[in-house]
Amino acid sequence: MAKEPVRVLVTGAADFNGVVESGSGEARRSGQIGYALVPMIARGVMLGPDQPVILHMLDIPPAAEALNGVKMELVDAAFPLLKGVVATTDVVEACTGVGVAVMVGGFPRKEGMERKDVMSKNVSIYKAQASALEKHAAANCKVLVVANPANTNALILKEFAPSIPEKNVTCLTRLDHNRALGQISERLNVQVSDVKNVIIWGNHSSTQYPDVNHATVKTSSGEKPVRELVADDAWLNGEFITTVQQRGAAIIKARKLSSALSAASSACDHIRDWVLGTPVGTWVSMGVYSDGSYGVPAGLIYSFPVTCKNGEWTIVQGNGLGIDEFSRKKLDSTAEELSEEKALAYSCLT
Ligand code: NAD
Ligand code: LMR
Repeated sequence: MAKEPVRVLVTGAADFNGVVESGSGEARRSGQIGYALVPMIARGVMLGPDQPVILHMLDIPPAAEALNGVKMELVDAAFPLLKGVVATTDVVEACTGVGVAVMVGGFPRKEGMERKDVMSKNVSIYKAQASALEKHAAANCKVLVVANPANTNALILKEFAPSIPEKNVTCLTRLDHNRALGQISERLNVQVSDVKNVIIWGNHSSTQYPDVNHATVKTSSGEKPVRELVADDAWLNGEFITTVQQRGAAIIKARKLSSALSAASSACDHIRDWVLGTPVGTWVSMGVYSDGSYGVPAGLIYSFPVTCKNGEWTIVQGNGLGIDEFSRKKLDSTAEELSEEKALAYSCLT
């Protein structure tokens, strides 16, 4: 029997050239992740090839016409799984009945800007959208925050939507996880699908800690540790880490726009694994509400290694993931940055 459609919200989904609130009045392309993401969802990349979807797209009033243009394109593409499209600038209409909410809308970081510069613009958006989701989304709606500062926006959303279970509010660090897989695969000249179990700890920022201490590569003679195959601790503890930490900034420098197709694809990976489960023996990185695991302060949205089953994530625990002194310092410093961001976010809201 055919499955009932799931309503999937994507905020920031209009694709338009417009004047953004940068203060400079400049015109630039906008809605880049949303425009890459909606066809992926309509093709079943996010929820699976047998799961019909109804797309809800939200953007701001100046983007209404462009948003309608995206709706026209979705209709024209005749996606078999797409059972309807709601294109709206009304947050209540956008949130009503959604089972998955991908929060992309917001003000992006541009060349030369620190993530903290965009904080005050974004946390007020997330506070307002939290209330709409809490009141109008489906029970058990799964929320993924992509817009930066992603961890802190997710925290604000969670705190201002107290009836949404804390396990349902997450942020995207899967892009960083995938970037780490990509760097290892390039260095070893192996298929990226043969590399697994890297970890992104902490913030989706330049303080994140990409950790390969438990990562492996599938070889013809079984799974081998990444450290053994790379055999260059100086690279793994140095250039590899900074390359992943700085990849977002490198893409902004190259494209004059932040990453879009990789962010959209990673958002699909995040929700797909959360809903449909992670493969046995594999974990992924998700920004989730800290319960104090690994000595990370509770009450932050922090990226941990997680496995997913039956629609629930669980932080990977156990003695297998011993944290050495080098890692400990890095876990703590990204936690410290998140605590500072949390304080700053609250100060922006008052
Ligand atoms: P963009 O500027 O191209 O698009 C943002 C869209 O959000 C625009 O269409 C804008 O009109 C819309 N918007 C603004 N305020 C809104 C509101 N209140 N409600 C609904 N929509 C609203 O930005 P982008 O390149 O698509 O990036 C989106 C966000 O994702 C940025 O914050 C960016 O920094 C972040 N990002 C995160 C990751 C990650 O891995 N977590 C990766 C890349 C980008
Ligand atoms: C990215 O990681 O590509 C984005 O978050 C861009 C940024 O602001 O660093």
